Amino acid sequence: MKVIEVSASTPYRVEIGSGALSLLGERMRTLVPKAKTVTVVSDDTVFPLHGQTAVRALSDAGFDVETYVVPHGEASKNTGSLVALLNFLTEKHMTRSDALAALGGGMVGDLTGFAAAVYMRGIAYIQCPTTLLAAVDSSVGGKTAVDLPAGKNLMGAFWQPRCVLCDTDSLATLPEVVFADGCAEAAKTAILFDPALFSTLYHAGKAFDPETVIARCVQHKRDIVAADEFDTGKRGLLNLGHTLGHAVEACSDFSLSHGKSVAIGTATVCRAAAKAGICGDFLPGAVEALLEKLGLPTRTELSIDTLLPVMLSDKKRSGGTVNVIVPERIGHCSIRPMDEAALRIFMESGL
Ligand code: GLY
Repeated sequence: MKVIEVSASTPYRVEIGSGALSLLGERMRTLVPKAKTVTVVSDDTVFPLHGQTAVRALSDAGFDVETYVVPHGEASKNTGSLVALLNFLTEKHMTRSDALAALGGGMVGDLTGFAAAVYMRGIAYIQCPTTLLAAVDSSVGGKTAVDLPAGKNLMGAFWQPRCVLCDTDSLATLPEVVFADGCAEAAKTAILFDPALFSTLYHAGKAFDPETVIARCVQHKRDIVAADEFDTGKRGLLNLGHTLGHAVEACSDFSLSHGKSVAIGTATVCRAAAKAGICGDFLPGAVEALLEKLGLPTRTELSIDTLLPVMLSDKKRSGGTVNVIVPERIGHCSIRPMDEAALRIFMESGL
């Protein structure tokens, strides 16, 4: 088991390893000692696989356990699901001392975290990520949200979990496409911060050791969250590949997964950065080779005229510019604000 301490406004630990989910009851008892009832929130894919482990761990620790299961997929991350969940908590007479456990991938973590942030002005929750994407990125750092019709994550809050229990056994049940989504975020972390991780992933391909890679990614996320918890500066680096990636994802009506879209976005900014002389000519080829080894695409057929309006509506826009994360070398990227004309020229050169 690997343990990483996060020093955010609420400090907490991320525990990563085989069997971590069975620690849920003990950790809840220690971290939320006054809780009587815990609601486990999950989705209809994850709950049948791992729900009983979570429920048993909590019952064995003496909690009354409720379960709330939503349909899997991003469509459940909306205000209707949020209000339904909050109504469920009131029906079960959950109090401010009680707690939630988020058991699932990014959608479940974001929805549960936001419900915890707003229920009775905030209650405790523990993140139990079951996908690689949630393990390496979304379960750590306290970003919680639901989507609005106008876009993803437009209603949300920063609300840190009391701990994160990442059970690597749950990765064994992941469909290939869901695993690949997480690989894209791990590759992103390597390009941003860590040449050694880049090399590890490059040599191992999809057969990397999950505990080691997740722990490494969480260490980097921990450092960024400690430096910029509320996302006003450096944390923006974590959006590498996301400006174009979100546009590709939206233009495919979300039929292309988040990870694949981010992989295309990442490869595109690398090609554009090389053409602009910002990074070495070898860098895009190395990044494309890594992404391909991880089973991820690196190009889109969509044109700049289709993608640009979506990029310009991105919530990462500030004033008249969009912040684009640009690689300078493996392990070092910078945040570059671009106006519409600069964004068009830059992204088109990488497509
Ligand atoms: N997933 C990006 C962030 O946590 O800031």
